[in-house]
Amino acid sequence: MLRTPNISNFLYVAVGSILLLSITLYGAASAQEVDAQLTSPDIGQNNNIEMWKAVRGGIQGQVSIPDKKAGVLVQSGGEEWRSIRNGPISNYGVWGLFGIIAALALFFALKGRIRIEGGVTGKTVQRFTLLERWMHWIVAATFIILSLTGLNLLYGRYIIKPWLGADAFASLTLLGKMAHNYLGIVFILGITIMFFLWIKHNIPNKIDLTWLLQGGGMFKSGTHPPAQKFNAGQKIIFAAVVIGGGMISYSGIMLLFPFSGDTSVQDMQGIQVLHTIGALALTVVILAHIYIGTIGMEGAIHAMWSGNVEENWAKEHHSLWYSEINPSDNNASVSDAPLQTPPTPAE
Ligand code: HEM
Repeated sequence: MLRTPNISNFLYVAVGSILLLSITLYGAASAQEVDAQLTSPDIGQNNNIEMWKAVRGGIQGQVSIPDKKAGVLVQSGGEEWRSIRNGPISNYGVWGLFGIIAALALFFALKGRIRIEGGVTGKTVQRFTLLERWMHWIVAATFIILSLTGLNLLYGRYIIKPWLGADAFASLTLLGKMAHNYLGIVFILGITIMFFLWIKHNIPNKIDLTWLLQGGGMFKSGTHPPAQKFNAGQKIIFAAVVIGGGMISYSGIMLLFPFSGDTSVQDMQGIQVLHTIGALALTVVILAHIYIGTIGMEGAIHAMWSGNVEENWAKEHHSLWYSEINPSDNNASVSDAPLQTPPTPAE
């Protein structure tokens, strides 16, 4: 028997189908929308820009290793640090080094050597003890090696590498870096001893002002402003060595033991900049010091070589110090011992 279709069943099926179709269509539409959102070039690019902005801004992510600094993917400050180091610092360094060499050469060409005007009497006065001389030469030798090996790190790739080749330059630089690391400690000990041995002679006073106002008598022959054991110029050198050397030493230790304490990558970059500027500035000052201690002034090198200086040299350049140890008060200070000539430029 043929069954008549049940109207209510038909309605159920129709409504159900419409509902199912709507859900499917809605689902499809949403999926398309999501797809469209994900693949839209605009939205994708905006997300990338924001993300890269954050990464370049040094955003810190999570890492499971103890070194949390590794959570920073890009430390953009590094680029800035690099351009400061290889740009202005290196450039001004070259200007400073060549500038002082040119200025000293010009001074020498115009004025020549500062002579002992009273002539050589053959009598000598003790100026520095053996301990002072050892300390000075240890500081001097280590500083010169530190300076040369440091300059190699800054300029070697431009000057030495093309001439030596990459492999030999790499070996030389590695050796230099090792010397730099170890001798730095000796230099620090040396300037510490220097500080304690010479600080009492380096306290500024009114006499220094007179000396400075007269330019140390260097620009007018026959004038010798009074000076104690160290004149104002030498006190400036001493201060540069102690303060500049101290700054280089502190930053050097921080570079030897990176990230000690709470130091961040940015701190390390700042410390490196400080180290390089301090070292370049002190090298410029020391070049002037080496000039005056050798070819610039007759009789000066004897003070650090044998420890004795010509009596007239002492009277002319350090009159107040000389009168303190005047032979009439203290005969033991003046001797007839001949000056030992160091193997440095002939007078
Ligand atoms: C070849 C290198 C050097 C030579 C020929 C030299 C020579 C001299 C001489 C002759 C003196 C005694 C001056 C006097 O009797 O009044 C002296 C003192 C002194 N030197 Fe040197 N020196 C050299 C390198 C250095 C270096 C590298 C430093 C430090 C980094 C240094 C720091 C000092 C200081 C602080 C004094 C005492 C203050 C002064 O005289 O300027 N010297 N040096």
